Amino acid sequence: MTNEELKKEILRLKKEKNAVILGHYYQIDEIQAISDYIGDSLALAQEAQRTDADIIVFCGVHFMAETAKILNPRRKVLLPDVAASCSLAESCTGSDLREFKKKYPDHIVVSYVNCSAEVKAESDLICTSGNAEKLINALPKEQKIIFAPDKNLGGYINSMTGRNMVLWNGVCTVHDGLEAEQLLKMKRENPDAPVVAHPECNSAVLAVADFIGSTKAMLSYIKKSENKRFIVATEAGILYEMRKNNPDKEFLAVSSGESCSCLECAYMKMNTLEKLYRCLRDETPEIVLDDDLIEKAARPIVRMLDMSRELGIIK
Ligand code: 13P
Ligand code: SF4
Repeated sequence: MTNEELKKEILRLKKEKNAVILGHYYQIDEIQAISDYIGDSLALAQEAQRTDADIIVFCGVHFMAETAKILNPRRKVLLPDVAASCSLAESCTGSDLREFKKKYPDHIVVSYVNCSAEVKAESDLICTSGNAEKLINALPKEQKIIFAPDKNLGGYINSMTGRNMVLWNGVCTVHDGLEAEQLLKMKRENPDAPVVAHPECNSAVLAVADFIGSTKAMLSYIKKSENKRFIVATEAGILYEMRKNNPDKEFLAVSSGESCSCLECAYMKMNTLEKLYRCLRDETPEIVLDDDLIEKAARPIVRMLDMSRELGIIK
């Protein structure tokens, strides 16, 4: 089938089955164009919480689809490619974290949403890059905290809040690989272009950035900015939304290491229109979790969403 035929079939099946397509900003352009909602992890979790569709097709990675399932145990949640993982989620298992917690019995665990359902079930609070700083600031100052699994995001939040959270040693291999030298060179060549960076980047890159924020925060910053050109230090999928919202602005994508190709998350790019079509048609691969795990993993996610509403981060 051609892309046009696939799109037509996806829209037809979506209507027939009362399905909703949630897509992350890092998905390929064609999937973003056909999604009912595009967003960052926080917005998509919120959308998953309020949908009344019978089927949620989650175009993102596995931990995001799991989060949607945890918030919607009675609905069918599909992921076009079940192998779409995440290096952060893979860096820490539920039993790893259980062992780690034993060393810090007076600490609570705040986990970045980029983790498995088992890790969520071992956590007291979940956060995303869009709310981490405000949620940590809202916890009592004397509260001791383990932050898992992203040491870069955790280190950044420590520096912004003055906390001394114990950090799990995980990274996003896509963002962590970026080098500050490369950004400094781009800055020298484009002095009018501020650098926007995701907090999953390493601390040397963050030190060079003019704006640090979640995918959604970067989009808002660019929209409001008087600048006309930007250096973008995050996954290239975001350029689709940046260009759509700002046709008068120019975006300079950072490349991965020595190669001149854009920074791309191989996991995010596993979903294709063809796989989306097949998954909606056959209603598989489906995310299935046992009830006990759902109950345990839901508590820290619901707590995150409730706190985010109380703090005015989301509506
Ligand atoms: P956001 O929370 O900004 O959507 O990021 C998710 C992610 O996986 C970034 O690499
Ligand atoms: Fe995980 Fe990094 Fe890919 Fe985001 S970009 S899904 S953190 S591997």
